[in-house]
Amino acid sequence: MLKKIQEAKQYIEEAAHPQARTAIVLGSGLNGFVHHIQEDCRIPYAAIPHFPVSTVAGHAGNLVFGKLNGQEIMVMQGRFHFYEGYSMQQVTFPIRVMKALGVETVILSNASGGMNPDYRVGDLMLLRDHINFFPEHPLRGKNEDSLGPRFPNMGEVYDPVLLDKAEAAAKAHGLRCHRGVYIGVQGPTLETPAEYQMYRLLGADCVGMSTVPEAIVCRHSGMKCLGLSVITNVFNPLHAATDTHEDILEAGARMEEQLIAVVKDVISR
Ligand code: HPA
Repeated sequence: MLKKIQEAKQYIEEAAHPQARTAIVLGSGLNGFVHHIQEDCRIPYAAIPHFPVSTVAGHAGNLVFGKLNGQEIMVMQGRFHFYEGYSMQQVTFPIRVMKALGVETVILSNASGGMNPDYRVGDLMLLRDHINFFPEHPLRGKNEDSLGPRFPNMGEVYDPVLLDKAEAAAKAHGLRCHRGVYIGVQGPTLETPAEYQMYRLLGADCVGMSTVPEAIVCRHSGMKCLGLSVITNVFNPLHAATDTHEDILEAGARMEEQLIAVVKDVISR
């Protein structure tokens, strides 16, 4: 693992000379974010040693380097999901590489389904916490102490200062914004009505198929983390859910502009 991280790091350093201290991972339907940065360099995942390659429609696969508000930023355009068949080590490998490249803060974005009855399609939820409901754990196996501790504390996965800044930014842009709990599940099926209700009972406000493994590895490696979730569909106990993946991508795409505005604002704050 250490050798793979170093080889990926070396390749990226030679190709892009990255200076970014902030990285952002783009979720479903949010790939257009990259059009808003002043792009310096773009590396397809396929070119980077040991990087997995994204397989889902709607998820491009590029590491993009550029400036946003004059600040250096690294963008993961497309992420790796457990349901695609990758191991949790593969899903979180780019986060390890970010750390090796000197990144200090990671913004994880995603699309999710809301169970909290106050939530509406198009709302933004800032992750104040998560529930790891994946059947595999990114830190399972022998711990590499140079990467982080065996038993990392998960008391404050999402940085409270970043949360305040994101909330202020969302309010400034007139967005409906909540702080809530994201439950990460393997998918790839969307939930049955009974499953949405179960996740609600467990204490989650929304459900999605990503973010939790990456957030765990951010904490393990000592990077600050902000989680932004675009509510692309909501569970209504009175209507069977008929949302399709296309509906979710479209709702994500409709939120792209607002999300970009919030991220820009968070970065300048
Ligand atoms: N469930 C799981 N993942 C999702 C959903 C959902 O309802 N919406 C967007 N990603």
